Order: sequence, then structure tokens, then C-alpha cells
Amino acid sequence: MALLPAREAMAISKVIHATGYRNLPPDELVDLTIESHIAHVVKRSRVGGDESFFIADLGQVFRQHCRWNQTMPGIRPYYAVKCNCDPTLLKVLAELGTGFDCASIEEMRAVLSLGVDPARILFANPCKAPTAVAFASEVGVLRTTFDNIDELDTIKTHMPEAQLLLRIYANDEGAFICLGEKFGAQLDTTEELLSRAWELGLNVIGVSFHVGTGATNPASFCKAIKDARLAFSQAERLGFHPEILDIGGGFQDDCFESIGPIIRDAIRLEFPAGITTIAEPGRFFARSVYTLVCRVISCRRQLGSAALSGVPDMLYQNDGIYGNFMNVIMEKEIMVPYLVSKKTRGFLHKPKSEESEQTNDAVQVTSYRYSIWGPTCDSTDCVVREVTLDSEVKIGDWLKYKNMGAYTSTTATQFNGFSSTYDTFYVNSETLSDY
Ligand SMILES: Cc1ncc(COP(=O)(O)O)c(C=O)c1O
Repeated sequence: MALLPAREAMAISKVIHATGYRNLPPDELVDLTIESHIAHVVKRSRVGGDESFFIADLGQVFRQHCRWNQTMPGIRPYYAVKCNCDPTLLKVLAELGTGFDCASIEEMRAVLSLGVDPARILFANPCKAPTAVAFASEVGVLRTTFDNIDELDTIKTHMPEAQLLLRIYANDEGAFICLGEKFGAQLDTTEELLSRAWELGLNVIGVSFHVGTGATNPASFCKAIKDARLAFSQAERLGFHPEILDIGGGFQDDCFESIGPIIRDAIRLEFPAGITTIAEPGRFFARSVYTLVCRVISCRRQLGSAALSGVPDMLYQNDGIYGNFMNVIMEKEIMVPYLVSKKTRGFLHKPKSEESEQTNDAVQVTSYRYSIWGPTCDSTDCVVREVTLDSEVKIGDWLKYKNMGAYTSTTATQFNGFSSTYDTFYVNSETLSDY
């Protein structure tokens, strides 16, 4: 199978392949593409570039997929479309053979429009509108989750042939976003729910949970797997034949390799006879694929007492928390901007803190302290409270932010009349042509 499908088949914008650029390393390929797009914008119009844009490295999707297979062998990922629904990303994941976790009619439509078999879709929303259940039934998406009695009635009416996963309560309190407050049946209710499903003649094929998005504590997965085992036993006692354990999403890049084996051991311990295990990773596949480039549209150099007391100068860029930076609020993420300089190649100025971590040289450089704000008239629209750069930033300059693929464009709003659609330019840093 080709690493990436032919351009025609994907119906996507042009992909710049590393092989065409002497196999540049991924970061350099991304930087080259940023540079070429900026040159294009600047050439087109002196005042253009009012929208931020993404560079997506599709080779990184492939590398994350390899990491997943190495750390979670035999556990099929159902990519959580809510995380980033870019059709090109979905198409690459479809080519790589993942399943898809969809939460709405539109997400199902997006995946089905790529020609994906409905059997590869899990409608992983335990509280669905009746119209959405009817739509799923019509298009053949039969696997879905439930965690309450009323949902069972909706399912009985609109999709009696459903293959149900009971979503149980799970929670990693350290997760960026805890989902347990909203979803998941407590263990003292699962028996009643399963009995009702049995009474209604519905088919329960497994158990699911989600410990929270951005989870770091392996103990929360282990507890949830243990609880799932109990729910499996309850279902079996009623006469169901559950065969699927869905361990949800929440997987973080930086602790994936350490948490993965613990999860696998817990599954082996609780299900010694073996079980079909699936997962719903979102951010793991999308976050590191996308780099966002924003333009500085205005600047407030401090004067008077603010200048004397060292308040950082304020930069205003064309994207903020109502656009692609909602994670500053939702996940308390600290954003790290890199200044794209006017010089060519090797042109990205790191924030000073990062630079000094990497070198011990006591080179004296002038530093420039800034806070960075979005374009709206809302004062909560602050992207970076304070950053020190080694170059001065001026109106018209560009700032680059890495790891901007998860819950960014999908959560963007049009508040204050700013656009919520962004151009994406694609590169493929993976030089392998087969996998
Ligand atoms: C049901 C469900 N599955 C999967 C995910 C994806 O989680 P993550 O992106 O943290 O992997 C979410 C995120 O909210 C979710 O609600």
C-alpha cells in the first residue's frame, strides 16, 4: 500500500514530499513550507495574510500509527473525529486502516464520504438525539454506546438492531478534561441498565470507558479495566455474550510508551482468556501533525509607568482563544511561539527559555518580553501571558506554534466576526513509500 494515496484519489491540496527536497528532516520541511507560503502571501498583497494557516505533516500521522502499533499491538484505534475532522487526516487514517469514533451525524457523514465501511465506525456518544440514532441505523453504523435507561428506549425505537457498548464511569482526575462528570454509568447502576437492555431484546456486545482527555495516570486505566470486567460478568450472567472492551481515548504523547504496557498488563490480568480490545484515541494521532502560523496584526509598546515597571509589550495576532487557541483556557496549555524571521532557512527564533536549556554558552543576547493576544475585543483572549524572544517582533511578522492539531480548528468560533476556516498546507516528511 502506498504511504499516501494518490493526490487525485485523495482530492486534497498538493502534498509536498520530503523526497522532492533532498529528504529534509520533518521540522525543516515544515519550515520550508511556511517560508514558501509566507513568500506567496507577501507577494500577493502587502497587507494580506489576515488568516492564520496550518502546515500538516502527513508523515507524522504514519509515525504515530507505527508508535501505536508498537505500544498497543492488537488494540485497534478508532480515531476520535471530534479531535480534528480535517478530511485529509481522516483519509490518511482510513488508508492506514484505523476505525473511527464519531459523535454526530456530520462526523459520520465526513467519514462515510471517504468510502469507509460503516462497520469501521463506532457512534461513541452515549446521549444521542433520536434523529442521529435513526441516521446511524439508515447508513449501517450499528455500534454505539449507552449509559442510561432513556437512551435504551431511543435505541429500541430507532435502531433495534444496534450492537451496544455499555459506557461505564471512569475518571483520571489529572486529565485536562474529565469526562466522568458528564458520561459513564456508575457500577451500582450497570446491572439495572443491562437488565433493561435484555428486557428490550437489545444486544450488548461490550463495555467502554474514557478516563478523560489528556490522561497521565495509568492507575485510572487499570481501575476502569477492572470495573469493565465486573460489567462484563454482569452482562454474561444475564445471557449476553460481550466480546469488546473499548478503552477510550486520552492518550498523551509524552507518557504513551510508559502507560501502554501497564494498560496491556491490566487487560491480560482481568481478561486472561483474551478479549477484542479497541480504543478511541484523538489527540495522540492529530496533535503533533499540525503546526499553526499566525501573523502579528498590532502591537502595543508599553509607555509611561507600565514601561518603567517592566510590563511586557503586547502583541496582537490574527488568531486567539476564540479561534485555534481554545486549549489555553480548556486545557491550561502554555503556548510556545517561535518567531519566523525574514531571513531564509534556519529562520525560527526559539523562545529564550528553550534556547538556554539547549546551550550552556553565556552568549549575551538582547531579549524582548511580550504577552500575546488574539484579535477579538475580549480581554480573556490572551494566548501567551509572557514570553521572552531574542528578536524584536513587529507588525506583519509571523509566529509559529507546534503541536496544534488537537481540539484547535474543530473548536474555533466566529466570535467578533473573525473567520473560523483556515488554510492547511500538506507535507509528507516520511520518505518510505510502502508500509
Ligand atoms: C467518547 C470520546 N472518545 C474519544 C475521545 C478522544 O479523546 P483524546 O483526544 O483525549 O484521545 C473523546 C474526547 O473527548 C471522547 O469524548
